[in-house]
Amino acid sequence: MDEVTVGLAALERTPLFAGLDRQHLEDVMTVAGRVSYGPGEAIVERGDPGDAMYIMLGGAAEVDVGGRYHRLERGNFFGEMAVLAGKPREATVRAVEPVEALRIPADELQAYLLDHPHVALGMLKSLVERLREVQDRLDTWIGGVW
Ligand code: CMP
Repeated sequence: MDEVTVGLAALERTPLFAGLDRQHLEDVMTVAGRVSYGPGEAIVERGDPGDAMYIMLGGAAEVDVGGRYHRLERGNFFGEMAVLAGKPREATVRAVEPVEALRIPADELQAYLLDHPHVALGMLKSLVERLREVQDRLDTWIGGVW
């Protein structure tokens, strides 16, 4: 299988792109590039500019969210926050197993999302889930302090 076919097969199994037809998935592949990282390597670093978003194709990475680690595996995406907000990276994401990912550069991502609102909606849903998870953690912490 060539690289595009492998990428398309992986995207088809990614919840963010669920329901998109082949043409739309191929659109992603025209803007995305394959990248790999070894265990221990930082994929994005806290404070860096948001130059791209990543979609995990395989392996595992971890986000350091204030001393707690959030695991990212096939189908998960990350790095969208700095791109969408035009602000520095919120957290460091590090490979913990060999990582294969798709990298979508910031400029292409904005244009892609404007053309594919379905995907933008999927990203919003994931962001809300993340917000709720952080809020729950904060509530637990505040509950413990009081
Ligand atoms: P960004 O800030 O661009 O780079 C670090 C990424 O880690 C961030 O985008 C999100 O994709 C991800 N991230 C940040 N905070 C959390 C969290 N609490 N849970 C899961 N992922 C997160």
